[in-house]
Amino acid sequence: MAERTDSLRGDIPHLLLAAAPMQDVTDLAFMRTLMRIHCLPDFWVTPYIRSARTTCAMTHEPLRCISENPTPTPIWAQLAGSDVAGLVRDARELMRLPVAGVNLNAGCPSPLVNRHGAGAALLRNLPLLSEIAHALREELPAGTWSVKCRTGWESPAEFDKILEILCSARPDMLMVHARTRKQLYAGLPDRDAVRLAVQRAECPVLANGDICSVRDAHSWLHDIHPAGLMIGRGLVRNPYILRQLRGGSAASVEEMHLYDEALLEETAASLKRYTAAGHCNRMKKYLAFCYADFSDEAEYALRRCTNPADMRQLLHGARETGPVNAS
Ligand SMILES: Cc1cc2nc3c(=O)[nH]c(=O)nc-3n(C[C@H](O)[C@H](O)[C@H](O)COP(=O)(O)O)c2cc1C
Repeated sequence: MAERTDSLRGDIPHLLLAAAPMQDVTDLAFMRTLMRIHCLPDFWVTPYIRSARTTCAMTHEPLRCISENPTPTPIWAQLAGSDVAGLVRDARELMRLPVAGVNLNAGCPSPLVNRHGAGAALLRNLPLLSEIAHALREELPAGTWSVKCRTGWESPAEFDKILEILCSARPDMLMVHARTRKQLYAGLPDRDAVRLAVQRAECPVLANGDICSVRDAHSWLHDIHPAGLMIGRGLVRNPYILRQLRGGSAASVEEMHLYDEALLEETAASLKRYTAAGHCNRMKKYLAFCYADFSDEAEYALRRCTNPADMRQLLHGARETGPVNAS
């Protein structure tokens, strides 16, 4: 389990490793946890901050990830919206904060977000996508505008046109979650779409979708040659994947215990009003992505658990018997 892995950075010297934004998951507690266990990505992207004509995005919770970023790692502020003037106003305001830049969310599949024409809904309104993309390009200085998109609303056949529009607005980085909105989070990521983006875009392209192991990462890199990888659920499941992708060793069981312990402590500290049940519920937001490594019995017990001391013990046992995702 602790053997070293080939350095992917050997294959691509400047391979970027980014943490995918995940609402209620890649929050301050998670950032603090990764800092404590020395598993930091090359950059963060905040969970989406809603931007609307009348509501200024500057009041939203994910802003704390920027203002209280406990890590030395740069963070992009992600905006989700469909009102051009509101997005430009909020992008300008966000640039006053210590951010790497502003990221446009063109992938969120939430019905609530899509009903307002934002997130992945931009992919089925290409004139608006174009208007927003060009307006943000005009507002944001070189190096500070990126887009995170899916490959289409309904079908990957839409991606060609989407890419043409995005490329014409000259983003500084493109992160492609290689699925359509219709696929949500299931189904095979569409490598051909990311390949197309890598070939066409003048900026670095990061591949995103189901990267949970060094093997997954290798296949993306060798087939598609993106400038980097963006990892979401796989990072919550095993943050040490970053070390492995940088050529280091896989996580030991003891290190996974350290991760669980740090997450328990940071989650407890992040609660506005502490209750044992609230603490466990918060933990379950992360654990949802870890159950694949546990036995069915351990998962069942963890899902029902309302006491942090019991949760600590259950996690300890689950790690001892379950496999760490080290392949
Ligand atoms: C619970 C959850 C919350 C998410 N929140 C966001 C978000 O705020 N902004 C965004 O661009 N993507 C969001 N995503 C999508 C992820 O960033 C990522 O694109 C997706 O999970 C696929 O990557 P993965 O297979 O590495 O997890 C979210 C995904 C999940 C599961």
